[in-house]
Amino acid sequence: MNDFTVFDSIELLDAESRYLIHKAKEAAAHAYAPYSKFHVGAALILSDGNLITGSNQENASYPLCMCGERVALYAAAAQFPGVAIKSLAVVAFRKGQKNLVAATPCGACRQVLHEFEERQKNPFSVIFFGPGEKWYRTGSASALLPMAFDKAGLGH
Ligand code: THU
Repeated sequence: MNDFTVFDSIELLDAESRYLIHKAKEAAAHAYAPYSKFHVGAALILSDGNLITGSNQENASYPLCMCGERVALYAAAAQFPGVAIKSLAVVAFRKGQKNLVAATPCGACRQVLHEFEERQKNPFSVIFFGPGEKWYRTGSASALLPMAFDKAGLGH
């Protein structure tokens, strides 16, 4: 499922996606990003309707910084084990600015998104504000990482 859809404006997205974007924006307010000043918020909805949010959490030891997407994903797995993810939205702001900036998930997050999808054996959408100031919604998390390295590569 390498598909994705591009939307010129948020109004063109479905209600659930818009709700997730709203929650991701709220979550970005809880980012701890004194070094990059890049505030990321993520929100995901589970198949049972529960909502989990995350934001990036930085550290003076830079490599320890954690992305907002992975904070949300790991919280979901820890708090609602075995419950499938339906959809995840991610947004970003620069500190002190009201306008969104592009928030295409980083490579590390794509790898983790891919394994979450593989683990639950059901595709989920990733929604983000991306290039050209448009909204993007994938049909699956794996659409963001073609030819991914995964457990099959390890012989599992
Ligand atoms: N960041 C995320 O939270 N998600 C991404 O997909 C890209 C990067 C964070 C990590 C770091 O705190 C800051 O943005 C700058 O890289």
